Amino acid sequence: MKDFTGKTAVITGAASGIGFALAKHAAAQGMNLVLADIDLDALNNAIPLLGLAPDRVLGVRTDVRHDTEIKALADAAYAQFGAVHLLCNNAGVALGRVTWESTKADWEWVLQVNLWSVIYGVSEFLPRMQAQGGEAHIVNTASAAGLVSTPGMAAYNVSKHGVVTLSETLFLELQMSQAQNTESQIGVSVLCPAWVPTGIGKSERNRPADVSNTKPLEGLSAKINKRIGKAIASGHLSADDIANETFNAIAENRFYVIPHRNINNAIETRMNEVLGQTNPTLPK
Ligand SMILES: NC(=O)c1ccc[n+]([C@@H]2O[C@H](COP(=O)([O-])OP(=O)(O)OC[C@H]3O[C@@H](n4cnc5c(N)ncnc54)[C@H](O)[C@@H]3O)[C@@H](O)[C@H]2O)c1
Repeated sequence: MKDFTGKTAVITGAASGIGFALAKHAAAQGMNLVLADIDLDALNNAIPLLGLAPDRVLGVRTDVRHDTEIKALADAAYAQFGAVHLLCNNAGVALGRVTWESTKADWEWVLQVNLWSVIYGVSEFLPRMQAQGGEAHIVNTASAAGLVSTPGMAAYNVSKHGVVTLSETLFLELQMSQAQNTESQIGVSVLCPAWVPTGIGKSERNRPADVSNTKPLEGLSAKINKRIGKAIASGHLSADDIANETFNAIAENRFYVIPHRNINNAIETRMNEVLGQTNPTLPK
């Protein structure tokens, strides 16, 4: 999809960080926006910053962990704008915990927000996009953590590897089905940034009560968490850089969006370990 003007984008996790940067970029391209976030105050503060006429932007408080709320989001988007041309399944949360110190609630929270939300987003929006016909595009925000296995981020890594393989599978399936039926052309991209200075290190701010059971941060988890916090803060690409790269990829119909080129070595090391059946080594 090369021309964005007058088309409609739905972006989850749009009140902060990469989601808000995607919203700014989409607005600058002349798109109508449907912005979803669990944090209604943050969403209400973010929307006026876009400077859009009220009839071009809709904010919908959405907890992406629930299929019913994703359905309500799709209903609201189609009721207001009649079509959706870009879906960014972007909402996500991070948790620095070694595997054996992650509680069931830790796993549920991270997998629901980061992986199940993408499953729900694709399931709810894709059939409607196919039915509307023409060009559309889905961007799933994974992470470099979906391509390598950094210690101390067990649930996060699992969720993001899930998003990568879901996206790859969907891309191939759409290629097969669209070769038969050219009425709709839907592109897919998977966004895999490394560290970006956003609110992700403070994900607990929006952790729902029903998945709040966690353990105090201590030992190896505490040490790793501190390191992750520093890495996020010192990320050399901004959320705006990530949004820019994402829109370039959509225009080129490019699947993999890996804005931090310096993670290529870590990806290559992992792939060589898989192919050579040698044991995993710590990422540098
Ligand atoms: N910042 C990084 O270093 C980095 C790196 C790789 C991937 N990512 C991914 O980028 C995406 C955006 O994260 P970010 O860095 O902008 O973080 P962020 O915390 O700034 O923004 C995430 C947004 O998601 C929202 N959110 C959280 N739980 C939600 C829920 N249940 N339902 C709806 N919205 C919810 C938050 O309220 C927040 O507005 C995430 O998927 C994250 O995993 C971030």
